[in-house]
Amino acid sequence: MDKIVIRGGRKLKGEIVVSGSKNSALPILFATLLTDDPATITNVPSLTDIDTAVAFLNFIGKKTVKKGNTVKAYSSYKYKHIAPYGLVSKMRASILIMGPLLARLKRVEVSLPGGCAIGARPVDIHLDAFKKLGAKISVKGGCVKTSTKNGLKGAAVSFRFPSVGATENILLAAVLAKGKTIITNAAREPEIEDLANVLNKMGAKVTGAGAKNIEIEGVDKLHGFTHEVIPDRIEAATYIIAAAITKGGVILKKVMPQHLKSVNDKLKESGLCIKETKDTISAKWVKNLKPQNVKTEAYPGFPTDVQAQWMALMCLLNGESRIEENVFENRFLHVAELQRFGADITISGKAVNIKGVKKFSGAPVMVSDLRAGAALVLAGLVAKGKTVVSRIYHLNRGYDMLEKKLKKLGGDLLQEEF
Ligand code: EPZ
Repeated sequence: MDKIVIRGGRKLKGEIVVSGSKNSALPILFATLLTDDPATITNVPSLTDIDTAVAFLNFIGKKTVKKGNTVKAYSSYKYKHIAPYGLVSKMRASILIMGPLLARLKRVEVSLPGGCAIGARPVDIHLDAFKKLGAKISVKGGCVKTSTKNGLKGAAVSFRFPSVGATENILLAAVLAKGKTIITNAAREPEIEDLANVLNKMGAKVTGAGAKNIEIEGVDKLHGFTHEVIPDRIEAATYIIAAAITKGGVILKKVMPQHLKSVNDKLKESGLCIKETKDTISAKWVKNLKPQNVKTEAYPGFPTDVQAQWMALMCLLNGESRIEENVFENRFLHVAELQRFGADITISGKAVNIKGVKKFSGAPVMVSDLRAGAALVLAGLVAKGKTVVSRIYHLNRGYDMLEKKLKKLGGDLLQEEF
């Protein structure tokens, strides 16, 4: 178990380059299965989830190598159609193997990813949509077996919730289905648009990605591609909140400000000074911030992946605020840990009510999930005294060079292994 030790009290100041988006790179990696041609993906963050996805592709039969921030997928002609629990349980996004392998091999067996700390994470929306495309589905012993004798056929698919993963999975299947697929109530995240751009580079015919309805005209074959992954909007939001909570100022480079409009609008409303150019954001604390209520929603609403970090900030503002979590059913595991710093938070159903406190005192805390971990690091950066954050392997799944970047901004951190 490794830990980070943080001595709080420093204002974060300086500039960092935002890494490529984990949640965009992952579906794009799985898209390489749709062609036998080679592919090159750049601006890929160095994260354990990416390493897991690369290992997964190699296991399936797609020779894939990551060097620095570039992933090269080589020509491969024979794929396994079975994704074992050992791999799928390490990373839920492995469920994205279904779309490409159903499209190419007409059959796939995937262990159900199972739940995680933030929720049961069912895949019913994925499976219902695959059935609409003509797949036969059987679920037994924690494993999903799907097959389609005559190949997938385009269909009208409507999602009860704009699931990011289900939208990606259906995109990855429909591009090689016979005929047209229309997804209504699709997820609109920037990562969906990035995936659609890659698929169209490969020769697919996807229109409307980023809007509520996406149309896919199936084609017979897809070819290789080169693509630079979009910046990670959640990482960017995390560093902006780090500047706000420590009353400092950061300049983020290689970022797409339009992707975090909902977060920056709320921060501007609270009084943070934010200036944007095409690919930079400068965020500066200039006066005491006012608490703001937020409700998490699917994009373009306030992102659930920034909820925990936002909560840490609200805990230290003078006044009361409320956060409603509408995307996951159990995404308040960081509340108990923030209370160890001295936070005054009350959970009521799917919302929390926060009463601002004057300061946090450093404490030993434990990370339950990726974004909760980010919130605890932010709290440690501003808490008086020493904070020890353990189980930081969760953080290494989603934050590229977190300690290095925070130290560059003046954070007083050291990593302890034991
Ligand atoms: C993606 O997860 C992200 N992960 C998550 O980021 C993010 O929190 C989430 O989208 C929402 O934005 C990746 O992109 C790898 P969903 P995903 O399907 O696709 C329910 C992070 O921190 N649902 O949009 O799994 C589900 O339980 C991670 O980087 C069903 O009920 O999210 C959840 O409550 C955490 N049935 C809600 O929908 C389904 O078939 C949103 O899930 C699918 C989802």
